[in-house]
Order: sequence, then structure tokens, then C-alpha cells
Amino acid sequence: MSIPDANDPIPAGPAAPAPVEVFRARRERLLELAGGAVVLLASNPELFRSRDTEVPYRQNTDFYYLTGVEEPEAFAVLTPHDAAHRFTLFMRPRDPDRERWNGPRIGVEAAMETYGADAVYPIGDVDERAAELIAPADRLLYALGADPALDTRVLEILSRARRARARSGAGPTTLVDLDSLLAEMRKIKDPHEIERMRCAAAIGAAGHRAAMARARPGIGEWELEAILEGTFRSHGAAGPAFASIVGSGENATFLHYTQNDSVVPEDALVLIDAGAEWGMYCSDITRTFPASGRFTAPQRELYELVLQAENAAIEAVRPGVGITAVHDAAVGMLVAGMVRLGILQDVSAEEAIESGSYRRFYMHQTSHWLGLDVHDVGLYRRNGTPITLEPGMVLTIEPGIYISRDSETVPAAYRGIGIRIEDDVLVTDYGREILTRGVPVDPDEVERLVGAG
Ligand code: GLY
Ligand code: MN
Repeated sequence: MSIPDANDPIPAGPAAPAPVEVFRARRERLLELAGGAVVLLASNPELFRSRDTEVPYRQNTDFYYLTGVEEPEAFAVLTPHDAAHRFTLFMRPRDPDRERWNGPRIGVEAAMETYGADAVYPIGDVDERAAELIAPADRLLYALGADPALDTRVLEILSRARRARARSGAGPTTLVDLDSLLAEMRKIKDPHEIERMRCAAAIGAAGHRAAMARARPGIGEWELEAILEGTFRSHGAAGPAFASIVGSGENATFLHYTQNDSVVPEDALVLIDAGAEWGMYCSDITRTFPASGRFTAPQRELYELVLQAENAAIEAVRPGVGITAVHDAAVGMLVAGMVRLGILQDVSAEEAIESGSYRRFYMHQTSHWLGLDVHDVGLYRRNGTPITLEPGMVLTIEPGIYISRDSETVPAAYRGIGIRIEDDVLVTDYGREILTRGVPVDPDEVERLVGAG
């Protein structure tokens, strides 16, 4: 069978750099919201494993969101009061020796055009120049607390800028948290982001289809992981968006099982929770399927229950609805099913919801925001009130049921079964769009796909 679906916008390679206007528009919006404050942003540090081996670099998501820069050792200053330096970058200079080992750098000279910066300086100049740039402003916006080494450096820049205050009468007196402002912006995806998320979703779906098509009893969980992640890479994804979960049999009852080192048993369900990162954006998909290609009767009962809960939650997604209504829809359906199937005994669904006793079998929330980060930024509640869904938000819908082997009060046929179904959903003007249905959820379609090649 052909794995990619011709209707999906499925990329054949890595994402091209986004146009500089995309990032400029975001910086202008942030400066508008910041009301005259200067903004200081820094790249993520490089990380090493196994002594001196580099971990594949991933840019700080806020830094990327506002600059498009994917290199380490970079700083950005946004200064609304200075037209010649509205967007200043500090970058690593070119270095032929280092580049011989680690590949080409953008360097200082090319960065102006590549990123649409007003000025670019070597990173070594940042302490002195950044202090000059921020000196005329009263307020400084910076994400304090993410990296202690960086915090120390920024506080040093701040104190340099203040030294001149006694004579100039200007200089930042207030440090404002950047996170909450940026989280508000990032919560609503712009058209460029939605396009990237569609691609990440299509690649994620292709990986799941490939793994399902090759699944059979006796295959290693690690082999399914390789098929999945090989498919992601073959479409130009940077790799998995998070450690892929491939759990068969009882392993599916552990929420974040990532060992992926068991052989898939006969008659077992396989739960795969994995997504691709493409062009910095993430997908996050879960499918649960029978390795043999046929659900047993109890597996199908539970699968259909989780699918009903997912459909109810997806139906609840529309602008103007509080995010907890989505979770409540899934819980309502799941708990009614748990009572009907005797998984919860001697209680009504209302009582089980009221007491929370169902949480033995469904212990996580139904949704999280999705975007540049898998668990993307953004509040779920403000001052105790659930956040209202708006067009442009992207969230996962991922109900599940997890019955551990030692659940003695549960009918024996259901013990040791874990099922989750997860899709990524965009809130639209009138309702929602499911981004990840390039991989089936209908149990009959799932059965046809498993083992098909
Ligand atoms: N897909 C992993 C998670 O949402 O936590
Ligand atoms: Mn998820």
C-alpha cells in the first residue's frame, strides 16, 4: 500500500526558512503590546552528552518565534525608541576553524539580510552594546528564571545601563516578565504557523500509518519506533517532537513509557504516541491498534468507548467555549462507559465524576496547547476561570483509559489494557479542523491498515 495520502500537504524535505516579514510582524506586535519597553531575548545554550558530543541543537522557541534565528550564541534587543536599532542581533562571527568541524555559520555580515535586522554585532560585544541600547528605556522585558547563567548576564547588562542613570536621568527601573506576554501571542497561531503545523501533522500521520502497516505480533517496539521516526526524517522532519512512546500489551498502561524495548505479544494492543517536528512546529498523535489486525471483543469495547469520548471532546471544540468543557465532554462519555462496562461498580456516573474515582483509570487532562513546543505555552485558566477557545488556537484531544493488570475490581477481560487516541485540532471561526486524520481512528479502518505492508 502507498503510505502517504496524496491529499495531504506532505513535505518531501526540510522546511525552507520562513520570510523575514513573518518575524517582523511578530516583533512589531510584541512592541505594541510592550508599550515602550525594550525587549531582551537570548538563544538556548548548546548542550553536550557523553562528555563532549553535541546534543542536536534546538533554538529557544521564543527566540525563534521573534527572530527566525536557529543558531546558538545569539542575542536580540528590540528597542522601540531607536529606529536605527529597532531590531539588533548579536551573532557568532564566522570562524573557518570551527566551521570545518561543525558546518557553516551565518556570521555577522550576512545576518542583517538573512534575518531583516537593523544592526548586527558580534556576540562578544553584547554586554557593552546591549547596555547602551536599553539605557534610554524605563522598562525591560526579559524572561527571567529560564537560565540562571543568562539571568546573571542580563542583570549585569541592566546594572551597566543603570550606572549612567544618575547623570542621564534615564535607564530601566523595572524588569517585566516577557513570558506571559509572549504566551498570549503564541497561543493564537498565525497563517504561517498553521501551514507549518499542517505539514508537521501530515508527517506525523504518515509515520503512524507506516508503523501500523508494518506491525505484527513478534515485532520489537523499537522496530516500530524506527519505522515511525525513519518516516518522519524521510519527509524532512528534524525528528520526533518528543521521545516516541511505543507500548505494547501492559506497557500501554504506562502514560509516558519510552523504553520501547519489548517484543509485541500475540493479541496485544500497541499504543503509539508520537509526533514529528517539522520547521520547528510539532505534531502529537496517539493511535492504539491490535498487533494481529483484529481487536478482541473486550479490546474493541474499550477502544470504541475512548473513540466516543474523543469524538465528544472534538465536538465540544468551538470558539467561545471554555477549555474545561472539552475535558468534561470526554470525562462524561468515559465515565458513563466505565459504569456500563462494570469497570466502575456500585456508583452512578454522576457520583464517580463528583468523587473523582474514575481517575484510577483516566488520570490526565484531555488537552494541551500545541505549537512550537509540544506542551505549548499558554494558560489553561486565568484567575480561576477556564480559558475561552478562540480561532487560531491549536490543542490536542487525547482521552484514554488505562487499566493496570492488578485492578482486581475490574472484570478480568479488561485488565492490562491501555488505550489512548489523540488528534491535533485547530479552532476555526465556526468550529474546528482536525489536522491529524491522515491516520485512521475508525476501528474497522485501523484493522484494515495494520499489517497491510
Ligand atoms: N504526547 C505526550 C504528551 O502529550 O504528554
Ligand atoms: Mn499530547
